[in-house]
Amino acid sequence: IERSLVLVKPDGFQRGLTGEVLRRIEGKGYRLVALSVLTPTREQLAAHYAEHEGKPFYAPLVDFMSSGPVAAVVIEGQDSVKGFRSLAGATNPTDAAPGTIRGDLGRDWGTKVQQNIVHGSDSHESATREIGIWFPDLEG
Ligand code: GTP
Ligand code: MG
Repeated sequence: IERSLVLVKPDGFQRGLTGEVLRRIEGKGYRLVALSVLTPTREQLAAHYAEHEGKPFYAPLVDFMSSGPVAAVVIEGQDSVKGFRSLAGATNPTDAAPGTIRGDLGRDWGTKVQQNIVHGSDSHESATREIGIWFPDLEG
């Protein structure tokens, strides 16, 4: 059993896709452990996206992610990190396969950052680190 950190990003939240994302997560059989709606602070985002600091899309990414509310969700299930990445699809929504969240619901909006509806942790270690950023009080 493994946990992963999912964010419904400002584009997905603003478009009213939170329920659809949760439906797909629950339909897959993952359990919801924690759920919160908040507008991320720049400090939270700097920690969350530390690996991307210095990349050309970093500043637009932080601007975008702090532009409005997101839904932060901790999910749990066997191989949930890999499993949610598979539900989400490729980073670029234009490339994402139909059947995935990004493939079915996303497209390229011509902005400086990929507004691709969701974030999902990319490894077990990332998930542990990210859950600590978004849910510091969550028990083991
Ligand atoms: P997340 O689940 O959001 O972490 O997506 P990812 O793991 O598929 O992508 P990654 O962690 O590499 O990048 C984080 C976010 O930065 C992406 O989801 C995009 O919003 C944005 N991003 C990443 N790479 C690019 C890029 O090459 N160009 C642009 N414009 N945005 C990017
Ligand atoms: Mg990532």
